[in-house]
Amino acid sequence: MTQRTNHFASATMPEMSQETLEAIVRSLMQRNQRRTDHFRYTLPSPELYPFQWLWDSCFHALIYNTLGETAQAQHELRAACAKPLPGGLIPHIIYWERPENGAQWGRERRSDVLDAAWGHDNCSTITQPPLLAHAVYDTVLHGGDITWLAEMFPILDAHYEALRRTRQFDDTELLMIINPDESGEDNSPRFDTLLELPPHHSADQHLNARITLLHEHAACRYEVRTCMRDVFAVVDTGFNLVYFDALRCMEALAGILHQPDTAARYRARADELASDLRLHLYDGEHWYAYDATHNRPIPVATWNTLLPLWAGIVTDEEAVRLVEALRSPHAFASPYGIRTTAKHEPSYDPHDGFWRGPIWPAPHWFLFHGLRRYGYEADATRVANQLERLVCGEGFREHYHPETGIGLGAHNFTWGGLILTMQPKPTQ
Ligand code: GLC
Repeated sequence: MTQRTNHFASATMPEMSQETLEAIVRSLMQRNQRRTDHFRYTLPSPELYPFQWLWDSCFHALIYNTLGETAQAQHELRAACAKPLPGGLIPHIIYWERPENGAQWGRERRSDVLDAAWGHDNCSTITQPPLLAHAVYDTVLHGGDITWLAEMFPILDAHYEALRRTRQFDDTELLMIINPDESGEDNSPRFDTLLELPPHHSADQHLNARITLLHEHAACRYEVRTCMRDVFAVVDTGFNLVYFDALRCMEALAGILHQPDTAARYRARADELASDLRLHLYDGEHWYAYDATHNRPIPVATWNTLLPLWAGIVTDEEAVRLVEALRSPHAFASPYGIRTTAKHEPSYDPHDGFWRGPIWPAPHWFLFHGLRRYGYEADATRVANQLERLVCGEGFREHYHPETGIGLGAHNFTWGGLILTMQPKPTQ
């Protein structure tokens, strides 16, 4: 039996065996599962997020795979891909079922306004970080069915083609996002300037700015390169690194399906993208996002600037600087986990900041694997232990206060289950 030793555990937190943790995660996932006549999917949090979200479903698939529930992962991803928009883009929310009491969902509790602004009945009209290929590949590696892969592959291919066709940044392989929600980090401060918001503002002000954007999308007829680009277009670091990884996964999946031409197409794009990423997002020190509307970098230190570790596109020497920022208590290292926004940023808001400082589980998953990739095993273990301590001590919360470790936001939130995919290396 694997015993996780938590070096940072508080005196009150019992050590938990891997089996107990698995049982708790399994039960949470089961409680959040829903089905329609044809599909099965998992709610990120029944109370606050009662629908299906795209990158959440990718995380869910990773969790199911680790639990040995590959069939459930297949269901989850099939449902996430069930309603592509005309053109092939996979939307970030699918409204399978409206809550009976019509309750407002989400942090701002004004979801009626948001739902109407998408301009679509059963799903949103924007997307989220393109993690799908990673999740599908992980499922295949965990014994997923090749018939299922053959069914999913054309949908994925259409999604990645649609992204490239509609979101391409100039003549590069980089992509632009057109709404902060597409980054997965609704209120990250790296989007403040474009939204014309000061470093401190209310959740309501923020939602208003994003809803205004949605109306602009409609007015632009969702045409990004000729219209939205003048309003809000960001070459986001995280989104593009996830895309880079996706291109690699698509190459591998095409290989499994014996489609050498398709595999070669994805490999060529990944190679191009690798140099574009470096040329446009790296200033020799930082991996900042780029404001494609005003043509300037966005020098805001969020955890996204550390993500090149996960994607594996930095040299060992370059990785050192990223790891330093990750370890620095003035930047990303809180006593409880990794801050989403560096402490030295004027926008840092540990209490009610959402993505402006509080600790979220998914960044720990990305950075755990990034640290391990570059051989920082002790740091990777620390990151895993910190997430485990938060989950075991505070429960499955959406995020956690970086200065006190107290749980915040949604309850019964699935992302904490990612801890199962962050295994310590077995000791020899
Ligand atoms: C929040 C998060 C977003 C997530 C959604 C559902 O809006 O910011 O990343 O997909 O909740 O969990």
